[in-house]
Amino acid sequence: MTGLEKAAALAARKHAGPPVTMLTAYDYPTARLFDDAGIDALLVGDSLGMVVLGYPDTTHVTLEHMLHHVAAVARAKPKALVIGDLSIGTYPDPATALANARKLVEAGAEAVKLEGGLRQAAKVRAIVDAGIPVCGHLGMLPQRVLEEGGYRKKGKTPEQSAALLEGAQALVEAGVFAIVFESVVPKTAEWLTSQLAVPTIGIGCGEHTCDGEVAVATDLIGTFPWFVPPFAKPEANLSPQITAAAAAYKARVQNCPAPLG
Ligand code: KIV
Repeated sequence: MTGLEKAAALAARKHAGPPVTMLTAYDYPTARLFDDAGIDALLVGDSLGMVVLGYPDTTHVTLEHMLHHVAAVARAKPKALVIGDLSIGTYPDPATALANARKLVEAGAEAVKLEGGLRQAAKVRAIVDAGIPVCGHLGMLPQRVLEEGGYRKKGKTPEQSAALLEGAQALVEAGVFAIVFESVVPKTAEWLTSQLAVPTIGIGCGEHTCDGEVAVATDLIGTFPWFVPPFAKPEANLSPQITAAAAAYKARVQNCPAPLG
């Protein structure tokens, strides 16, 4: 299937179901393992800035970082749709947004994601018109964390909820195939889901409030123990096993008799 066909098939799940499953992936082995599990979409998210590159937030991520990790995930040739994030500052206007979306596609992305609503509509339209599927991202926008002074819940008031709907509708009109909603209060996420013609993919929005869910891989498998968001639902806790394996290796190597000669 082409990226366009995969994106269209995901969009059709709004009504046909089952709920859409999306996980972040930043490297070849993780992409293969998640693809083997039948995950629908692999998001090479700019969250890699924190959970892979060790930055405090996503505002340090560059297009070069994204291209490097998108290429690694694409080498797994997953059946899942590979979505690459347009990192901060890479979509200031429609022409630049399209040029950088094309670079992600050349690296192996089959779709791109960008943050924001009304002010991104023309950029989304330019990318979609060029045949590249676009996923929106509304609610808490990590690329604006410094301006906003932290990670805050969205959609708490009728005004905030109406603004979210207005932004989402602008994205839908511009041609997105789905919208990620991050840290939107469950009632509002449910309402937005009922109002929109494309699948909503929730993270930190409560369970079963959207048409699908996305999770950050390291939150799911427990390999970034230094910060786990309160809404994360780990299915494994691998970090103690990794440290134990390294310690067992150290003990084995240091207890070895010295080589002869
Ligand atoms: O970068 C990312 O991982 C994301 C998810 C939080 C949706 O955008």
